[in-house]
Amino acid sequence: MDTVGNISPQDYDRFKLFLEQACGILLGEGKQYLITSRLTKLLRDENIPSVSALLQAIEMRQPRHLRDAVIDAMTTNETSWFRDQSPFEILAKEVFPEMDSIGKRQCRIWSSACSSGQEPYTISIALSEYMAKVSASGLVNAQIVATDISMSMLATAKQAEYDEGVLGRGLTAERKQQFFKPIGDRWRVADDIVRRVSFNEQNLLSTYGALGKFDIIFCRNVLIYFSAERKADILNRMALALNPDGYLFLGASETINGYTDAFEMIRSPHGVFYRLKSKP
Ligand SMILES: C[S@@+](CC[C@H](N)C(=O)[O-])C[C@H]1O[C@@H](n2cnc3c(N)ncnc32)[C@H](O)[C@@H]1O
Repeated sequence: MDTVGNISPQDYDRFKLFLEQACGILLGEGKQYLITSRLTKLLRDENIPSVSALLQAIEMRQPRHLRDAVIDAMTTNETSWFRDQSPFEILAKEVFPEMDSIGKRQCRIWSSACSSGQEPYTISIALSEYMAKVSASGLVNAQIVATDISMSMLATAKQAEYDEGVLGRGLTAERKQQFFKPIGDRWRVADDIVRRVSFNEQNLLSTYGALGKFDIIFCRNVLIYFSAERKADILNRMALALNPDGYLFLGASETINGYTDAFEMIRSPHGVFYRLKSKP
C-alpha cells in the first residue's frame, strides 16, 4: 500500500464498486493515487496491509467504524463562504422578497452536502442580512437543515468555530466582525446564525422522507462526483422533497439538463437557479 503499483487491477475495481455503491462517488480510471493519498494513514492506523484486506475488513465490519472512515476519507470537502456569490444574491434579491410578497411564514432550506458548514451558515447570514433590511419579513422562523455523509465534516460544522485562514476564504471584514466573535485564535459563528441551522447525517443515495419538505434545496458541488443515473435519481427525489414552487440551487459547473424535467431553469440577472415545475 506504500505505492500505487501495489493496488492490483482487481482490487482497484472492487474498491471502485464499493465506493460507488456506498456513496455514489465514481473513481475514474487511473485514480489509484487517490486511494493511496487518502487512505494510507487510515490503513496504517488500523494495521491493514492492502486494499484487498481493507475491503474484507469492511465486509466483516471489523472494526465497525471502518466503512464510514473510508467514505469520510474519500470525500472531497472543498467549500468556502458565499461560494460563487450568485446563489446568495439570488436568495437576498429574488427568493426571499418573493416569499415575503406572498406572505410565506415558514421557510425550510436544505443544504444537502454541507461539508464543514460554510454553506448553511452563509445561507443563515444571508437571511439575517435580508431581515435587517426588511424588518417586517415573515422569514424570522426560517430553518436550515444541513446534511452530509461525512461525520468528520458534520462534527466541524456543528462546532461552528473556524480559524483565520478558513474565514479568509470568502468572508468580507464587515461580515467577519458582524457575524463572528473571536475565541482565542479562532472565530465562533454568532449564536443567532447558528441557531437556525440543524445538522444531520444523510447519504444522498438514501431516502429523504424523514427530512420533511423544503422550500429551497442547495445541492452544490456534489453531483459532479456521481454517475448520470445517480444524478437523475437524486434530482428527481429532490423534486419530491420540495414544496410547490420550491427552488433548487446547483454548483456553478452543474446542470439538470439531461437528468430531470421536474424543474424549469430561471436565468436571472444574478445567475441561474431552478424552480419546481407545477404539476399539469
Ligand atoms: C465539494 S463539497 C461541497 C460543499 C458545499 N456544498 C459547497 O458547494 O461549498 C462536497 C460534499 O459532499 C459530500 N458528499 C459526498 N458524497 C455524498 C453523499 N453520497 N451524500 C451526502 N453527502 C455527500 C462530501 O462529504 C462533501 O462534504
